[in-house]
Amino acid sequence: MHRRILAPGALAAASLMLAIPASAASYSPGAPGIGDPYYPAYGNGGYDVSHYDLRLKYQPATDELEGTATILARTTQDLSRFDLDFLLDVSEVRVNGVRAEFATSGRHELEITPRTPLAKGTAVTVVVRYSGVPSTKSAYGFSTWHRTPDGAVAADEPEAAWWWYPSNDHPLDKATYDVSVAVPNGTQAISNGTLQSTSSQAGWTRYNWRQNRPQATYLTTLAVGKFDVTTSTSEGGVPVVNAYSVDLGDNDGAARASVERTGELVDWLSGWFGPYPFASAGGYVPNTTTGYALETQTRVYYSPRQFANGSNASVVVHELAHQWYGDSVSLKGWKDIWINEGFARYAQWLWSEHEGEGTTRELAAYVYASHPADDPFWTVAPGDPGPDDQFDIAVYDRGALAVQALREAVGDDAFFAILKGWPQEHAYGNASVADFRAYAERISGKPLDTLFDTWLFQPGKPASTGATGGRATLGATAGPVRQPKSWKTIEATNSVHAAEHGH
Ligand code: TRP
Ligand code: ZN
Repeated sequence: MHRRILAPGALAAASLMLAIPASAASYSPGAPGIGDPYYPAYGNGGYDVSHYDLRLKYQPATDELEGTATILARTTQDLSRFDLDFLLDVSEVRVNGVRAEFATSGRHELEITPRTPLAKGTAVTVVVRYSGVPSTKSAYGFSTWHRTPDGAVAADEPEAAWWWYPSNDHPLDKATYDVSVAVPNGTQAISNGTLQSTSSQAGWTRYNWRQNRPQATYLTTLAVGKFDVTTSTSEGGVPVVNAYSVDLGDNDGAARASVERTGELVDWLSGWFGPYPFASAGGYVPNTTTGYALETQTRVYYSPRQFANGSNASVVVHELAHQWYGDSVSLKGWKDIWINEGFARYAQWLWSEHEGEGTTRELAAYVYASHPADDPFWTVAPGDPGPDDQFDIAVYDRGALAVQALREAVGDDAFFAILKGWPQEHAYGNASVADFRAYAERISGKPLDTLFDTWLFQPGKPASTGATGGRATLGATAGPVRQPKSWKTIEATNSVHAAEHGH
């Protein structure tokens, strides 16, 4: 979301150009991908979205979704045509009020050709009317639309939007959202941000949710089902909205005993990361059969299985840490995933230390000692893991080890200044691993190229000493390294690494 003031002459200039047919030669189609080498077709080129207004109706009995998406965008090139990423059936598209031609192409492209080409730098309003049964749609052979006995859930990474709204589906193009969903009376619709209002008419209840801060497409979530909703305010003043499926069975108590600590944990994390960046916090636990949790902005998604062995505050810490590291500051490209996962995992280590269940240093030493030099674990470079290993355990555990190595190289004062300063430096924006290194060098006054290369990019086990150029002695403890008390609880939050996700 780049806000620019429209220069007074721009409109006049645009219509002048449109008056000359030959000028159309400078107009070209927007690229079908935003340019991410991990996922070349994800997102699109030629425009930048500032706001999505989604007005939907969903029938749980049949999985029928219908709606209108109104998208506010600005062109970034002279555009003859542009794409949105989407899988449902489109009946009408309007660009600036005028009916536009559209077609599908590729795996998930909706190609839109406006009646008149769009000059670079102009505001565009796109209205897409659509309907469909999301569970019948797939791309690349998978679907991430999760049906439940009482509804459905859209929450996945990096793909979730295609099944329920048309978008520029890449974290580089963040936008604000109004998500309005009508569902049969007695059913709830949960989404991001604050619930502005509800209204009922003729057997349907409409829920109006608002996210007033930029949000990546994959962090936009929708859950429809029968939920028990709780509201509260944290001691630090953050409004909390949580929702629990009424069908959580034996997991219900442990789910609530974990997620109801959201306010406490948001406040605790604020002590490390600075002020909570959003107007609302919370999480929801639908009756899905998935195993993972996801940091959907302000309203975290938790699979019931996260609580199968009892409460787990550590997973709540992980997902809430993402609100700063991943959601407010989003990655520039998917190769930058360490910015998200290395720090969310490190927050779990800080929590372990706070709980007296093992210090960050003990956890780092344990990770280091647990993987011998010939373990493939060390072949994954958390700083650029490649799409197949994007969510490999090494991105989390070696990623957090790298954070500890940084801490030991720059010292606690600089480290904690970096940890708290970074979310402010790039609040509501995007940043890369290279940006993080530059920032850490600036705050610490130390060159960190060797440290970053060693811990994040080299495909091998770093030497325990010396490699950091600092005073790191990770894993240099004599004798066997004991498993920290928190290890099993932290490990239980890793279920995404089980082969449940088919790509
Ligand atoms: N980002 C999630 C977390 O660590 C985990 C995750 C990775 C995930 N890949 C996913 C979740 C795919 C859902 C789907 O909290
Ligand atoms: Zn995570």
